[in-house]
Amino acid sequence: MNYLWTGRLKGNLHEIAKKYTFSLEIDKNLASFDVVGSIAHVEMLVKQKIISKKDGTTIISALKKILDEINKGIFKFKEDDEDIHTAVERRLTEIIGTTGGKIHTARSRNDQIVFDEKIYLKYILPEIKSNIALLQKTILKRAEEGFGFCMPEMTHLQPAQPVLFSHHLIAYISMLERDRERISDALKRVDISPLGACACAGTSFNIDTEYTAKKLGFSRVFSNSIDVVSDRDFILEVLADFGILMVHLSRMAEELILWHSPFFGFVDLPEDFCTGSSIMPQKKNPDVLELLRGKTSVVIGDISGIFTLMKGLPFSYNRDLQEDKRFMFEVCEITILSALVMAEIIRKTHFKFSRMEEACNYGYIEATDIAEFLAKKGIPFRQAHHIVSEIVGIASEKGLPLSKLDKRVIKEIVCDDDVVNFIKNLDVHKSVKNKKSQGSTGLELVKSEIEKWKNILK
Ligand code: ARG
Repeated sequence: MNYLWTGRLKGNLHEIAKKYTFSLEIDKNLASFDVVGSIAHVEMLVKQKIISKKDGTTIISALKKILDEINKGIFKFKEDDEDIHTAVERRLTEIIGTTGGKIHTARSRNDQIVFDEKIYLKYILPEIKSNIALLQKTILKRAEEGFGFCMPEMTHLQPAQPVLFSHHLIAYISMLERDRERISDALKRVDISPLGACACAGTSFNIDTEYTAKKLGFSRVFSNSIDVVSDRDFILEVLADFGILMVHLSRMAEELILWHSPFFGFVDLPEDFCTGSSIMPQKKNPDVLELLRGKTSVVIGDISGIFTLMKGLPFSYNRDLQEDKRFMFEVCEITILSALVMAEIIRKTHFKFSRMEEACNYGYIEATDIAEFLAKKGIPFRQAHHIVSEIVGIASEKGLPLSKLDKRVIKEIVCDDDVVNFIKNLDVHKSVKNKKSQGSTGLELVKSEIEKWKNILK
């Protein structure tokens, strides 16, 4: 067989070795990017007079035909196409004959594959950023609709303190903002053109690396040919960022799953994102969110995979690197879709505010407010904490909310009418109204947070 590399080797690759080394099934995803890169490369070769204008025109028009075939889905891959680069060059020579062979002047598949991956990510990163923004806007809209309602915030999954529902949703928005920032930052490392590094040492041809970089929309050019063909840390970084985003989405999924359980009853998830049971007729299971949680494990596995792939590699290019794409594609596909799934679920979820407010009656979530009230009256906070624990202990023994405790019982512990009145008039709405500190759940503060995010996300 005549492979690109047939020469010293006769090309008599064992059938099993062939099956083992060929990567077309995975890297054909990069087909159109590969051709776009080749067109710019040939234009540069012509500009630099490395190949004639006539040859350049012939090659470029054939490449455009190939791009058209790829875009229309009619490009025919052949059994002997080792990878996407080989497939394109094979088709090129089919169309224009041996002139097609000039395309590989002053380049190698080693810089070509890095280009393909970077241009793919340059296309994916803005997409994920806009999906995150869509999710943030959707959450913000729901936060605004539910402004004023309270819910019990939990620590250790136990009732902690009353907060505004909107404050909890804005926690998601601010978490996701870090994901957007991280992805913008990763783009800086992706945005370095590798073209011209060739196999590892550069070339003796008078190429113009700035030209191809600019033509293909890169803002910088590599500075070391060995580093740039060896480098995959731009993928490690993007995948790690996507992994963090998936962990965030998975935590949100977990909360929604809990809240959808009738034991919480804080939400009713949209029917078209739930499934039933084949045996239990009453079921409305949150399968889609469970799968998001499950797919997060797949992503974490892929991240672990690509880190492991890199850790022992000597410089420069090693064929191990071919395996990077399966991790990259899987993580990108899952993450992009997961952000959209979450946005749509949040958009359609029915938030049950009366149930959230009712749940504020359990677990003595106003206890810290009482302790703060005592501390403001001059009682050292540690002592205030003890006093309130005692009151909570009695209420809990009697199975009563704090506000229903007999005044006399309270007075036996703390002999101050102000405190007794404070406890008798406890109200979660007052509690959130009283919060003043920066970033807290204070009513006015949350209101201005909503406005702030509206401005950021518009
Ligand atoms: N398909 C390879 C990859 O994905 C690129 C080819 C480089 N192959 C080589 N033998 N130098 O990394």
